[in-house]
Amino acid sequence: MLLTDPDIEFLSGVVAEYSGNVISPRQAYMLEKQLTPVAKNVGLNDVVELVGKMRQAPNAILSTQVAEAVTVNETSFFRDNHPFVALEKKVIPDLIARNQSKKEIRIWCAACSCGQEPYTIAMIIREHFPHLSDWNIQIVATDLSDEMLNKSKSGEYSQLEVNRGLPVKKLVRFFDRQGSVWQVKQELKDLIDFRRLNLTTAWPFLGQFDIVFIRNVLIYFDQSTKAEILHRVRRVLRPDGYLFIGSVETTIGLGVPFQREEIDVSVCYRPNN
Ligand SMILES: C[S@@+](CC[C@H](N)C(=O)[O-])C[C@H]1O[C@@H](n2cnc3c(N)ncnc32)[C@H](O)[C@@H]1O
Repeated sequence: MLLTDPDIEFLSGVVAEYSGNVISPRQAYMLEKQLTPVAKNVGLNDVVELVGKMRQAPNAILSTQVAEAVTVNETSFFRDNHPFVALEKKVIPDLIARNQSKKEIRIWCAACSCGQEPYTIAMIIREHFPHLSDWNIQIVATDLSDEMLNKSKSGEYSQLEVNRGLPVKKLVRFFDRQGSVWQVKQELKDLIDFRRLNLTTAWPFLGQFDIVFIRNVLIYFDQSTKAEILHRVRRVLRPDGYLFIGSVETTIGLGVPFQREEIDVSVCYRPNN
């Protein structure tokens, strides 16, 4: 291990400042491996030189690269399937009934990683609600990482990635095979607007949403950051909207304006009005 405890403390401070992510002791062990490419990319030999350079003079570009390089990007199609069943069986039908006059449904998929989550939502809409073709359906998918967003926008997935969670019927219906790569069809891409957004800094104007997915990202923040983000989510969620957080995440103890609601075996959160 090249990094000393003060180096790890310094890097954890940079990550906290630029992404709000808390570096756990388990992750500290991985910093060296994760940050070596960042060091090499700017012509340095190793992470120790990287820390030295960053200590010498604050460098926003390097700090952003460091923060992005240590995020956890784990995701898959239909991850923890229950929210997607709830979407199909209850949430979208409910919104169709309520939004008849404006014919619009807006969904925010925050912290979308490399795109499997918003494409899963898009597949549900296209497959189960074909009659919404004259509605304005918009999925805004955001992430901190440009690398993740570029991958999301490309819509290209490996065999290994499509093997994780994607039923064969959906693979055939919504993807084209191009050599060893599976390419998402344009009809799904058309529903999604991918944008960069850091959840811990000021958000650009997003408008109001009927549904917010913010799953498996709150776990990386401290309690007050989680609470602050969920208060801000409340402000962009319509009063009768639906919030989905990760299956291992909870609002308990955060004092946020949402109440838990069960939809069969799935859990969502509704604004306290
Ligand atoms: C574990 S993935 C979750 C992906 C997807 N939501 C899911 O549940 O499968 C966490 C994502 O959060 C993003 N992230 C971490 N900190 C962030 C921040 N401050 N603002 C926006 N996105 C962030 C990471 O880049 C990563 O892609």
